[in-house]
Amino acid sequence: MTVADAELIRIDGVAKRYRTASGVVDALGDVSLAVPEGQFCTIIGPSGCGKSTLLGMLAGLVGPDGGRVLIEGQPVTGPDPRRVATVFQDPGLFPWRTALENVEFGLELQGADRGRRRAVATELLGPLGLRGFAEKYPRELSGGMKQRVAIGRALAIDTKILLMDEPFGALDEQTRMLMGEWLLDIWRRTNKTVIFVTHSLHEALALSTRVVVMTARPGRIKSVLELPLGYPRAMESPELVTLRAKLWSEIRDESLRAMSES
Ligand SMILES: Nc1ncnc2c1ncn2[C@@H]1O[C@H](COP(=O)(O)OP(=O)(O)OP(=O)(O)O)[C@@H](O)[C@H]1O
Ligand SMILES: [Mg+2]
Repeated sequence: MTVADAELIRIDGVAKRYRTASGVVDALGDVSLAVPEGQFCTIIGPSGCGKSTLLGMLAGLVGPDGGRVLIEGQPVTGPDPRRVATVFQDPGLFPWRTALENVEFGLELQGADRGRRRAVATELLGPLGLRGFAEKYPRELSGGMKQRVAIGRALAIDTKILLMDEPFGALDEQTRMLMGEWLLDIWRRTNKTVIFVTHSLHEALALSTRVVVMTARPGRIKSVLELPLGYPRAMESPELVTLRAKLWSEIRDESLRAMSES
């Protein structure tokens, strides 16, 4: 085993049941997954199958009912902004902070001085297409812009692990493709481990080293597709067209099941 193959994340038999006033939801079944350092691991599965719940566990925000979540061999007991940055499905910006100040937030938590915070955040705004919007407040930004600020906030703290929950879901197709290329470039330069949730087959196949398909709720792992392919990927190549068909047939079955049971 090389250093690059070292296991960074281990999810061991986790389950999650939400109990609310209106009833009980079994969100996750028995999920186990090991992710070596440096992977771009995408999780794909029907709406409501527990993807955000699983990411919440890795972020230390949701406690599992059973099983364990380990990062570098240590059980996750709460958020750890030194090791894990998260882009949430909902951008969750601070409305009283400008775009630039939102991007700086994690660096403040890490204790970075003002000069460094400004420099890092300002540099990130360029490729995010927000250079002219540094001083705007979230209410003055479009949905896609807010999401890009949230991506900047997560990247600014430069952690080993980056959790991304449908980070490009609110973006138009062209911006989404450009953001994908940009993220890929960052990932390849930094050797971060990315856990990425998407509903886009194209995105999963264009970006990932591994795609994990989840079943309908309660979410379990249905299959794992390894993609030992280079970048940029020729999406129309016979190999990728075949992989896409295979992935779609698995997801289609689960999505139909999820819709008929909802
Ligand atoms: N805090 C919560 N309280 C109660 N139920 C919850 C909570 N969070 C999630 N759930 C339920 O757990 C299930 C899984 O939700 P989750 O958000 O993890 O799914 P998801 O796979 O991320 O879906 P989507 O693709 O729509 O984002 C859903 O049925 C949801 O209603
Ligand atoms: Mg979700």
